[in-house]
Amino acid sequence: MDIVTRLGYLAVGVDNLEEGTEFYSRFVRLDLSEQVGRTAFMTGGTEHHWLRLEEGNGQGLKRIGYEVASEDALDVVRGRLQAAGITFTEGGDIKRERVHRWIRFIDPGGFSIELYVGMVERGVAPINNGVTLEKFLHAAWAAPNWEANTAFYQKVLGFKASDWIGDRAGFFRSADRYHHSLVLLNGQRPAFNHFCIQVESLDDVMRARNNALRWGVHLRDDLLRHAPSGSIGVYLKDETRGFAVEFCVGHPQLDDTHQARNLPMSPETRDVWLAELPDHRVAERLTSAREAVEVQSIISASDPASLVQQR
Ligand SMILES: [Fe+2]
Repeated sequence: MDIVTRLGYLAVGVDNLEEGTEFYSRFVRLDLSEQVGRTAFMTGGTEHHWLRLEEGNGQGLKRIGYEVASEDALDVVRGRLQAAGITFTEGGDIKRERVHRWIRFIDPGGFSIELYVGMVERGVAPINNGVTLEKFLHAAWAAPNWEANTAFYQKVLGFKASDWIGDRAGFFRSADRYHHSLVLLNGQRPAFNHFCIQVESLDDVMRARNNALRWGVHLRDDLLRHAPSGSIGVYLKDETRGFAVEFCVGHPQLDDTHQARNLPMSPETRDVWLAELPDHRVAERLTSAREAVEVQSIISASDPASLVQQR
């Protein structure tokens, strides 16, 4: 039974709602779906919100929301949380939160997680926003308690491991089958790392990149290609909130024949384009070419036909 279907939304605290919505509309190209009090709901798709910016509750990531397949799936998770001894709260307020029903809890790594069903939909996705956004794809964060945390996401929430980098990082997919909708990093303390939006083409990645640089937004990582998924992306820094926003293209969907690999902790795993090139050996080729010319001239000199030609 499918439990988690996809990354749903992030609740992010902002000190100033105007500043937050300006950053996320100008540089991440999200549209304002709605404002309720001092909370702004922003999206790049038909889903009502990918981000929920909340003023007056401190700055930075507050909660990570994943969508579940159905109310039945939510009930299954409810039972599993109880069995695992994890306390949770339940709610849902379609008027104020634009989500029908949710369960919230703290995961073994210390993050506030929401599983929900029934988010309001928009009639149409934002159009003509300069960067064609396709999907709110994945979230990545560092957390302590590595063994318990990675086991929790697989056994209780039903994520499947797509790849590992030893005990440093795990990539997990949900029912949407994209290579990862969750990345867990093995860290000393909880720290949200980034979220990723899949865009339509490399042109969209580059338009987002250049729009950021033009107006002074720093890149955390410039254009790279990750080994685990093979996707190409750039990372913009949201320095005010303390995490990054990734724009990527070419993130594959897997089927259940995929066997999780264990990749090395190396620069090339992070960016395959960092692999050292093979020895070029141009100097040696030049030497042998010179020798070849010398050999050719000896042959020519001993060839009567060439002597005839020289006359
Ligand atoms: Fe990523």
